Amino acid sequence: MRGLIAYYTKFGNGKRIAEALARGLEESGQEVKVLQLPGKVDGDFDFVVASSPTRLGRAMGPAKRFVSSLRGDWAGKSFVAVGTGVHSEEQEGKRSETWPAGSADRLYERLEKAGLKPLMGPQKFWVENADDWKNARLLEGEEDRAREVGRAIGRMLSGES
Ligand SMILES: Cc1cc2nc3c(=O)[nH]c(=O)nc-3n(C[C@H](O)[C@H](O)[C@H](O)COP(=O)(O)O)c2cc1C
Repeated sequence: MRGLIAYYTKFGNGKRIAEALARGLEESGQEVKVLQLPGKVDGDFDFVVASSPTRLGRAMGPAKRFVSSLRGDWAGKSFVAVGTGVHSEEQEGKRSETWPAGSADRLYERLEKAGLKPLMGPQKFWVENADDWKNARLLEGEEDRAREVGRAIGRMLSGES
């Protein structure tokens, strides 16, 4: 199958996660195109992975607008919603202004509303909690984990698990 991985990034971590997901998907036999948002969707796809950084518990504009643009034509196709953010045990699941990687949950809701079908729950990837957001990098092992999630998505699409 052919999939689109559409991601928005502010500081580059989302790009690394998108590329790791793409590697995993390719390793499990899927064809993927990686698109940085905002950008133009070109071609036909069977599934979509949408990713956004989290800002005050929410997904960011370019990712939200991308999901809105899927209404109609993409109904019934499979999706995986992805978000990056900062992990915090005590905030987990709270829809507060620091909701950890809440962008994944928000994109999930929007994609479902647009008529697409989830392949799995929201996928969250963590950056370090630094005072300086610009230089906060992914926690160790997150790219490997994203690659493994990519493989798992690929296997599900091939009907192997
Ligand atoms: C103003 C601001 C607000 C943020 N709010 C959240 C938040 O509510 N929850 C969270 O998990 N991360 C939050 N973050 C961290 C970002 O999600 C993180 O910088 C981003 O995921 C990194 O991805 P990128 O490198 O692709 O931009 C915030 C960052 C900034 C700058």
